[in-house]
Amino acid sequence: MSEPEKKHVFLKVLIFGLCVNAFFIWLGNSIPQLRKESPKDISFKDLEDKSPEEIASLGKDLFNGKGTCFTCHSIGEGFANRCPNLGAKNGLSQIGTRAAERLTEGDNGTRNHSPEEYLAESLYIPTAYIVKDFPPIMPAVNKPPLALTDAEIVAVVAFLQSQGSKITVTAKTRFDSVIARIPKPVKVEEIANLKELLAKANPEHGAELYKSNCMTCHGDKGDGKGPGGSSLNPPPRNFTDVAKMKEIPHERMFKVVKFGGQANGLSALMAAFSSTLTDQDIADVIVHERRFAWPAAKDDPDVKP
Ligand code: HEC
Ligand code: HEC
Repeated sequence: MSEPEKKHVFLKVLIFGLCVNAFFIWLGNSIPQLRKESPKDISFKDLEDKSPEEIASLGKDLFNGKGTCFTCHSIGEGFANRCPNLGAKNGLSQIGTRAAERLTEGDNGTRNHSPEEYLAESLYIPTAYIVKDFPPIMPAVNKPPLALTDAEIVAVVAFLQSQGSKITVTAKTRFDSVIARIPKPVKVEEIANLKELLAKANPEHGAELYKSNCMTCHGDKGDGKGPGGSSLNPPPRNFTDVAKMKEIPHERMFKVVKFGGQANGLSALMAAFSSTLTDQDIADVIVHERRFAWPAAKDDPDVKP
């Protein structure tokens, strides 16, 4: 290569390098999360002088930034496919329109919802309505690590509405009725008379209760492979696993069934039955569940109450 040719190649490489650099600087700045200083929390005062469209535009920045929504949800075309697409895709309408359609599904209609409240509830209490065929992994966005403020959630709802419907959210919107429905943390209490309850237990009654309350997840054979359980992560407990069941004392089983998985450091998908079942019912169903491990361990005192 002659000297002028070498110079030419050098210049080309230099310009290419500069372009690549410029691209990454632009990319870095276009994602608010990657900017050096994180943007300030938005309060209701910040929304006061804003039109619904301006509020929606703040919501869009939160969707692509602090809210990290874009990592799970695409809107139309996009890379995030393991969570519901919020655009008109896969047979669904745009999320703004879809919010109104959802009010006729599940028990949404009985909760006195408006479409904007449905959207707010999806953010504050994601497990209140779980979109069919998706795992319930959406985090409550008002809690850490996302920790969106109430005003920021109003802005995000305005942005979601802007996808296919009129924005009904204004600077005055408050979602107090939704916030009031956020479930309170449950306190796990000791059970003084567990021995008596187990001694009196009626496993046949327990089997009936198991059928109507537990079988969809834990399965008719007790192996955790019921139709509602096979896709859950972590999976429902397999009551036929003798080694595992020996590790779980009766008292622990009772507390998980009564106060729920979450209150006992397990998955929230294992619901609390304190409002559906009496203490004696719970003892009955536990004794029935223990029997799934019987073929292998009928006389094992850890397994047989
Ligand atoms: C870790 C992944 C994840 C993140 C982060 C996440 N979501 Fe979700 N979201 C899901 C999943 C999964 C579902 C469906 C299951 C369910 O209903 O809980 C869902 C459901 C929804 C729905 C209901 C959709 C419908 O079809 O009715 C809305 C609305 C929604 N998310 C908005 C958001 C917004 C806005 C953010 C950011 C503030 C966000 N999500 C952050 C995973 C996520
Ligand atoms: C919606 C699905 C679902 C239903 C319905 C359900 N469970 Fe569970 N259950 C789970 C899941 C998931 C786990 C595992 C939780 C974990 O490992 O974090 C579990 C765990 C358990 C455990 C193990 C507790 C421990 O300490 O390991 C017991 C006992 C149990 N369930 C009993 C019941 C009983 C009794 C019923 C009915 C009255 C019931 N479950 C209904 C999903 C369900």
